[in-house]
Amino acid sequence: MNRVYVCNCFGVTEAQVRKHAEAGACTPRQIASACKAGTDCGSCVRRIQALLGRGACRTEVADQAPSVLAELAELDEAA
Ligand code: FES
Repeated sequence: MNRVYVCNCFGVTEAQVRKHAEAGACTPRQIASACKAGTDCGSCVRRIQALLGRGACRTEVADQAPSVLAELAELDEAA
């Protein structure tokens, strides 16, 4: 198996960072909360940022639009 490590301090791979990003972690801080990557020597934070910048994070405006519209509809009903 070909594992590309992003964070050697905690043995976190690129695949793991992508998985956390897909689950909604959009910043290096959120990735750190999810798997500790970047919280020791910090030398991997730029690589994590680069991975997030390449679209690993799936929280885009288009993804949020339906839930925002649903909230607005609920507010309309409540008024
Ligand atoms: S390599 Fe990630 S914290 Fe050190």
